[in-house]
Amino acid sequence: SSQTPLDELPKGLRGVAFLKVTGVRHWTDRTFSFTCERPASLRFRSGEFAMIGRVDGERPLLRAYSIASPNWAEELEFYSIKVDDGPLTSRLQHIAVGDEIVMRAKPVGTLVHDALTPGKRLILFSTGTGIAPFASVIRDPETYEKYDEVILTQTCRDLHELDYGKALVAEIEADEMLSEVVNGKLRFIGTTTRETSEQMGRMTDWLRDGRFADATGRALTPEDDRVMICGSMAMLQEHKQICEDAGMEEGSNSAPGDFVIEKAFVD
Ligand code: A2P
Repeated sequence: SSQTPLDELPKGLRGVAFLKVTGVRHWTDRTFSFTCERPASLRFRSGEFAMIGRVDGERPLLRAYSIASPNWAEELEFYSIKVDDGPLTSRLQHIAVGDEIVMRAKPVGTLVHDALTPGKRLILFSTGTGIAPFASVIRDPETYEKYDEVILTQTCRDLHELDYGKALVAEIEADEMLSEVVNGKLRFIGTTTRETSEQMGRMTDWLRDGRFADATGRALTPEDDRVMICGSMAMLQEHKQICEDAGMEEGSNSAPGDFVIEKAFVD
């Protein structure tokens, strides 16, 4: 990362780091992931998000993006939707290796271990690019120190949109050190809602009609289960209601609880 002396930068650019893009992968016509340099001083907790973007003239155009890489990784990874008329993603989807993105100061967020009380089963519910913070959480050894079982679910419209999550799990299993830490505790359940597949339907429906309990061995319980949820506003509201109906309480960094939610980046 390059550091320009503060007083030489236009006001809007003070306090941002410039990070070189090191890799880009297009997964579907709606999603892509990319990696970039990690500032040497950057500390974050797996599951947090940062403000990142591109510079438009003198002003940075920034949006909240979950960091998909775990906190120990040398590079930062992000997983993003492409929106043709989205102010940032319409441009960000064209980034190439060697381009620079900008990142503002300190990552924050609630999809972190600190916001949950101890439990046995960690369940990570996502739709679409809401899987991004969990890509970080499932690669963090702390996750497997804290839980006996980790279940990641992702609901997407089409099968191809599940490829990023599937590749991630395959990468973990192929990694000698990580697979030893994970020790068979991780399970990925991907469902589709529009394209025909072996596992269809919204996870919210699976939870309500018993398919979730059948697939994982038991229904949600406040005694054993801790939950993180990331997706659209409507998805969060439904999952939150299901957790509350199961007797769970929402947690935060200052008051840890049974479940935590965060809106996925949308435009
Ligand atoms: P559906 O196809 O039935 O709308 P999107 O691509 O629009 O962000 O949606 C991602 C996935 O999230 C889709 O499979 C979609 O299902 C699902 N979804 C949308 N709204 C909700 C909701 N309120 N609760 C659970 N899943 C949802």
